[in-house]
Amino acid sequence: MRLNAYLARAGVASRRGADELIKAGRVTVNGARGELNTFVERADDVRVDGRAIAPQRLRHVLLNKPRGTITTARDPEGRPTVVDLVGGDVRVVPVGRLDRDTTGVLLLTNDGPLSHRLAHPRYEVEKVYAVEVEGEPGDDVVRRLAEGVELDDGPTAPARVRRLGPSRVELALHEGRNRQVRRMLDAVGHPVVKLRRTRYAGLGTGRLRPGEYRELARDEVRALRRLVGL
Ligand code: URA
Repeated sequence: MRLNAYLARAGVASRRGADELIKAGRVTVNGARGELNTFVERADDVRVDGRAIAPQRLRHVLLNKPRGTITTARDPEGRPTVVDLVGGDVRVVPVGRLDRDTTGVLLLTNDGPLSHRLAHPRYEVEKVYAVEVEGEPGDDVVRRLAEGVELDDGPTAPARVRRLGPSRVELALHEGRNRQVRRMLDAVGHPVVKLRRTRYAGLGTGRLRPGEYRELARDEVRALRRLVGL
């Protein structure tokens, strides 16, 4: 990985901060001065001001996001963030985003390449939502949601839609546009009352209560990697 990413992973600085350290000549790799384009591997001896550092271990967390939390690493207004909910000494950041009042499955990780691919539309990771809406959508509405509705950034791709109750539907999407579910339901005249993501890339909340999280098992991480071709 690039030297700045390695330093960021080790918790030395942000990537930009790491670039400054590198430019200042404070970083060495196997005894030679590190440059912005230096690539390093686990076995390399990386030092900052002569002090050896080691990359932090990779961490993958599944959070059952509660209502009222912001999906960001730091909120300038000081509101509670999903990152505040996840303890432990290795910092993780959210993969994609859920609205403040959306609950359910949210992954957080410091695994940059995996996170990038999971969030990238090209890999079409499946997200399943249980949606409570205003009114009682008829079969025509369910069909429109499934076939695609026109939004201001273009029509939505075909989705799997299932009725869960008179005012509840399940939507399985492979896109991940901003506020997509809320906008789709607005477009068909049944605004969202409650929104929960029940599955992300095949992972559910299981026994986690809102606000609780767990570390992913090794085979779960392996399955995620396989899913996005890593
Ligand atoms: N779609 C939305 O509208 N909101 C979310 O939080 C997730 C998907």
